[in-house]
Amino acid sequence: MFIYLPTLITFVCALYLYFTRTFDFWKKRNVKGPCPIPLFGNYIDVFFRRKHIGVLYHDIYKQYPDEKVVGLYRMMSPTLLIRDLDIVKQVLQKDFESFPDRGVYYSKQKLGDNLFHADVEVMKGLRKHMTAAFTPNKFKANFDMLANRAEQFLEYMGRVSDENGEVNILPGFRKYGADSIMMAAFGIDLKPYDENNLICDVLDEGIQYPRYLLELELLFPGSLTRFDLSIFPDRISRYFKQIIEAGATLGVTDKTERNRAIDIMMELKRQGSINASRKENGEKEHWLEITDEMLAGQAFIFYFAGYGNNSLLLSYALYYLAKNPEKQDILIQEIDEVMLKYDGKFSYESLKEMKYLEMVFEETLRLRPMTNAVVRNAARDVQLEGTDIVIPKNTILAISPYSFHHDEKYFPEPEKFKPERFSTENVRERHPCAMLSFGHGPRSCLGSKFALLQFNICMVKMLLKYRVECTKNTPESITYTPTRLLLTPNERIYLRLVNRDKYK
Ligand code: HEM
Repeated sequence: MFIYLPTLITFVCALYLYFTRTFDFWKKRNVKGPCPIPLFGNYIDVFFRRKHIGVLYHDIYKQYPDEKVVGLYRMMSPTLLIRDLDIVKQVLQKDFESFPDRGVYYSKQKLGDNLFHADVEVMKGLRKHMTAAFTPNKFKANFDMLANRAEQFLEYMGRVSDENGEVNILPGFRKYGADSIMMAAFGIDLKPYDENNLICDVLDEGIQYPRYLLELELLFPGSLTRFDLSIFPDRISRYFKQIIEAGATLGVTDKTERNRAIDIMMELKRQGSINASRKENGEKEHWLEITDEMLAGQAFIFYFAGYGNNSLLLSYALYYLAKNPEKQDILIQEIDEVMLKYDGKFSYESLKEMKYLEMVFEETLRLRPMTNAVVRNAARDVQLEGTDIVIPKNTILAISPYSFHHDEKYFPEPEKFKPERFSTENVRERHPCAMLSFGHGPRSCLGSKFALLQFNICMVKMLLKYRVECTKNTPESITYTPTRLLLTPNERIYLRLVNRDKYK
C-alpha cells in the first residue's frame, strides 16, 4: 500500500495543478474577483443548485462596489461580470460584431438552434423573418383573441378564488401565458383550464427544471454540442417538432392574411433555405438550410418566453399592487377613466392611452427581471472601454440586470415600488442601459412588445373586475428558488381577489 502512496499524491497534485492552471488569468490583467476553488471555480453553489446563478451574480456585484468588472472562473474558464453601464453598452450595442453570440450552445437536433441560443449566422438569417410575427400591426389583429383568452382566465381564477378565499396566483398565470402565446403564435388551443388537462404542468416541468447537463456545460463549456446533448428532455423536443409537423400537414394559411409565427415558419419551410449573408462583414452570399429541427427550436423559444416570463411578470405585478394599495388606486382610476372615454369598449387604441399601466409593467420588470444574466461571448480579442483590459476571444461576459436595477446609483430607493420612475422625463435622465429586463442592442428580446400587450390586456381585464389584496399567507418578501431557469419565487404568492362591485 505504501508503494502506491507516492503515486496517489503525485496524481492528486497533478489534478490540482491541472484544475488551477488558469487561476492567475484575471490577476495578470489586474482584475479583482473572488477566490476560485479547484474544479468549480466560483460556481460551486450554482453547481449544486444551492443558489440561483442570478443571485450569485448579484452577491458578487455587491461585493465589488468600486470595480467596473469582476473576474470569475467557470471551473477553469475565465468569465467576466460587468459592473459598468458604458461597458454594457459597448458589449451589447456599440461593439456588437465583437460580441454577437451568447456562447451557450447545445444539440441543434434538440431545440439548440432556437434564436436565443443560436449562433449569429442563424440569428441574422431568421430574426428578421420571425420579427414579422410580433409587430404592433400584428397586435391589432390579435387584440380580440387575447382579450378573449384573458376572459377565460378570469373565469378560472374567479372559480379558484370562490373555492378557497384566496389564490396562489403563479400557477394560474402560467396557464394564461401558455394559452395566449400558443394561440397567438401557432393558433393552437391548449384548453389549459379544463380539469385534468395537465399539458401546461408537463411542459413546465420539462422546460423550467433543466437536466443536470446544464451544470456540465457550465463547468465544461462546449461539451453539450460535442456529445449532441440537450438540457431539455427529449419529450420537449418531440412536442415542438410535432407542432411544426402539424403546421405542415394542415398546410397552414395564407401568409399575408395571418402572418402568425407558424405561418411564417411554414413559408420558410416551403422556401427550403434563406439568405443569411452578413453583408456588413463583406461576406459572400451564404444560404441557411431550413430544417424542421430549426423551426421546432423557434417554436420552443416563443413558448418558453411567452409563458415563462409573462406568468412571473403578472404575478410579481399583482403582488406589488397588493402591497402598495395607493399605487393600485392610481392604476384602477386610470383604467376606469380611459374605459369611460371609450364608452366602455376595450380596444387596442384605448390600451395605448394607459400610460400608468405601462409604468407598472416597467417598474415590475425593474424590481423583478426574470433573466438571471444577459450573456455574450467575445468573438475576438477586445479592449474594454474606459479600461486597459483586453479580454481574449471566447471569454464569456455576464451582465446581471437584477444588480443594475437594484443599484441606487441608477434607481434611488431601489427596493421601493415606484412606477413613476418610468415617466418619460425620468427615463430620459437615466443611462440608456440602466434597464436591462429585455437586454439591449441587436440581440435584445424579440418579443418585448408582445409581452407588453399580453401583460396589459390581462391586467386591465383583471382590475376592471377585481382589486387585489394581501392575505395572511402573502409572503412578506420574495426569495428565488435555485432549481428553476428563470428567477422564480421560492414562496407561493397568495392574494385575495375582491370583487370591485363591493367598492362601488
Ligand atoms: C416579460 C417577458 C419577457 C422578458 C422579460 C424577456 C427577456 C428577454 C431577455 C433578457 C433576452 C436576452 C436579451 C439579450 O441578450 O440582450 C430575450 C431574448 C429573446 N426573447 Fe424575450 N423576454 C420576454 C418575452 C418574450 C416573448 C413573448 C418572446 C416571443 C414570443 C420572446 C422572444 C425572445 C427571443 C427570440 C430572444 C432571442 C433574441 C436574439 O437572440 O436575437 N421574449 N428576452
